[in-house]
Amino acid sequence: MSAASYDSYEGLNRLALDRAGQAEAFDAIGDRYDDAFPHKEGQLAAGAWLAESLPAGSRVLDLGCGTGVPTARQLSDAGHRVVGVDFSPSMIKLARDNVPAAEFHRLDIADLRNGRLGGSGSFDGIAAFFSLLMLPRAEIPYALGMLHDLLRPDGLLALSMVEADVDDFTIPFLGNSIRVSGYLRDDLRRIVHDAGFDVTGEDSFAYAPASTDVPPEIQLFLHLRRA
Ligand SMILES: C[S@@+](CC[C@H](N)C(=O)[O-])C[C@H]1O[C@@H](n2cnc3c(N)ncnc32)[C@H](O)[C@@H]1O
Repeated sequence: MSAASYDSYEGLNRLALDRAGQAEAFDAIGDRYDDAFPHKEGQLAAGAWLAESLPAGSRVLDLGCGTGVPTARQLSDAGHRVVGVDFSPSMIKLARDNVPAAEFHRLDIADLRNGRLGGSGSFDGIAAFFSLLMLPRAEIPYALGMLHDLLRPDGLLALSMVEADVDDFTIPFLGNSIRVSGYLRDDLRRIVHDAGFDVTGEDSFAYAPASTDVPPEIQLFLHLRRA
């Protein structure tokens, strides 16, 4: 797929998108998410790259913002205009409490394609930390195409995923079940390239979460520029 038009989701069968249980799981998890993932060196480093590479006052989307900590807060503290999106009402409430200077919207990632938060080129930067991994693989290239379109030319995307060769795979997660997808790193690089991004930096971290029911993982962080 090449860099997408704003209706990049048109090629996907939207009726086949199954979100059942996903937002409910994050509603139930709430701020236990931050307790289970206390070490965020990789995310903070990628967030710092994004924050410092953009001019002050940039409009930055935090996609799947969770509790707003650390990323929306980090970007907001750096002087950017942060717009956070998450489909979990609990997460949005926590984010609003944690980062009053940012604006937050309860929306599905797929709903951004309709220009709900601005049209083509309306963001200077995007952070998508561990949120695209909640989508089935069939959707991820379309979501990346949509993010490409939301960014201005030369806009930046900080993306993190867990390295795993899985598609819509059910895992236990903090007492709930969620479905996740992932790629091996060569495949991830190819998919972001096909969506119209240049990889300008990359990092990986081996990570053992504090919670026993979440397996150890390799976290991949990509620094991307809209080509
Ligand atoms: C693993 S958490 C990551 C949270 C945050 N980005 C971080 O790294 O600290 C994934 C977040 O994405 C949200 N999410 C998952 N799928 C989504 C979707 N289709 N639309 C909007 N939000 C979604 C979840 O509610 C959750 O808050």
